[in-house]
Amino acid sequence: MKKFIIATFATLGLVACASQKNEQKILVLYYSQTGATESVAKEIQKQLGADIAKIDLENPYDGDFNATIARCQEEMKTSKFPALKPLNINVKDYDIVMLGYPIWFGTYARPIASLVQEQKFEGKKIVTFCTFGSGGLQTSTSDLKAALPNAEIVEGYGVRTARIGSIEEELNRFLIEGGYKDGEIEPLPPFGKHETVSPEDIQVFNEACGDYQFPLGTPVDVAKRQTPIGTEFEFTVKSQDMNRKESKATIYVTKTKKQGAKAEFTQVVR
Ligand SMILES: Cc1cc2nc3c(=O)[nH]c(=O)nc-3n(C[C@H](O)[C@H](O)[C@H](O)COP(=O)(O)O)c2cc1C
Repeated sequence: MKKFIIATFATLGLVACASQKNEQKILVLYYSQTGATESVAKEIQKQLGADIAKIDLENPYDGDFNATIARCQEEMKTSKFPALKPLNINVKDYDIVMLGYPIWFGTYARPIASLVQEQKFEGKKIVTFCTFGSGGLQTSTSDLKAALPNAEIVEGYGVRTARIGSIEEELNRFLIEGGYKDGEIEPLPPFGKHETVSPEDIQVFNEACGDYQFPLGTPVDVAKRQTPIGTEFEFTVKSQDMNRKESKATIYVTKTKKQGAKAEFTQVVR
């Protein structure tokens, strides 16, 4: 009798469906020009054992930073989008798409703008991840929400190119906390109360941000928390936005317990 039931269900394809129901199929889909986002994509793929696919262009952007900036500015001015090569996977086969990209001009890179014109990801859950010089996870995720109203967009993981060496541990936490990967991890405590910055806090801020290629503003107040790795700082900063208007930003800084470790900023949130 048992054999008969299994055979009948197998014929109807129900056995496969039942076993897949609890296990969501994940695709890691990414664009990367210079390899940083690709490192993150490959680490996610490794930790999840998920499928992975790269977004390629018919006419790739030149590796040179200034040439890329110039081509992008021209494309933005003329509302042109770079043509993509066909994907070698079918997005419809997946429940969750981890979508990765570099931040360009404060949002997702232009090839993702091409992608979201072709592919609306209806009914899919999209988890964003990105790499950047200073930040852009939040802005790019909200821009994606606007571009893909019929998908569920979830803000994922972002890392500065300069901190790419930290991704293994950070992704482990992110993937467990998000429920994408089995495992246990001690939750981080919340940040404490924001208080006016002390001279010591300013020293930490300058150590982390002082040699960044662009000025990151003046710290006003700070909240802190202790983690297993060290101290994290959440600075409120007075700065200027892209139009040189005065604005506020939040800058996260980490100082690890390692002997001689320099404070480093992890992201700017505008
Ligand atoms: C055209 C262009 C624009 C960029 N704009 C920003 C930006 O607005 N904010 C930022 O933090 N980084 C910006 N960057 C830096 C990239 O986000 C960063 O180098 C990223 O890690 C590159 O990823 P990839 O190696 O996967 O291509 C820009 C880079 C390029 C080429």
